[in-house]
Amino acid sequence: MSDPRAALGILISGRGSNMQRLLDAVDAGEIDASVALVLSDNADAAGLSLAAERGVATCAVARSDFSSKPEWEHAVDAVLRDAGANLLALAGFMRVLSADFCAKWHGHLVNIHPSLLPRHKGLNTHQRALDAGESNAGCSVHFVTAELDGGPVIAQSEVAINVADTADTLAERVLAKEHLLYPQAIGWCASGRVALTGSEVQFDGRKLDGPIRV
Ligand code: GRF
Repeated sequence: MSDPRAALGILISGRGSNMQRLLDAVDAGEIDASVALVLSDNADAAGLSLAAERGVATCAVARSDFSSKPEWEHAVDAVLRDAGANLLALAGFMRVLSADFCAKWHGHLVNIHPSLLPRHKGLNTHQRALDAGESNAGCSVHFVTAELDGGPVIAQSEVAINVADTADTLAERVLAKEHLLYPQAIGWCASGRVALTGSEVQFDGRKLDGPIRV
């Protein structure tokens, strides 16, 4: 009989610390899912070897091996579907996915971003929070749509900014929050407690008025 649980595809580009926390949570039974595949756009991603060492199926689909972005994305999509993935977690995946790809995976494509969205979409989030003189920072887990870092937010964790903070010290504290927030939020998606209906995030069948604070 086929496994009724969600099948996770985790997409990474680099060190993969969030990926590791997701794998830990699956192993611990905190996320009710199987791991179908860890995929990277970068064959040298440290996280890819870490996943392989843990016995997880891995695959590199390098953009440079394809002459166009649509061909590369088609390959990414095919590899994930062949592996049986039905819920995708972007975990430090540094490629922007097209509107077409996001539409195909609508409601099944989730990202973690190191800011309190809608503040600081894009890169260099920690330095930008410091430059803006903000008193808090944090991370957000959101459904991915065609708008970069603009999809409906599921959950957020916050940290206070200290006067002595640099982008590095702030990044370290935010990352510690990411490692708690992402497994929890992916667990909710995998179990169906969190779902996307149109552009509305539902939690236990009721519309969320704002991000869940973790
Ligand atoms: C994390 O800060 C994540 O929020 C961002 O990229 C970083 C990836 O780190 N999207 P890691 O590869 O999970 O360690």
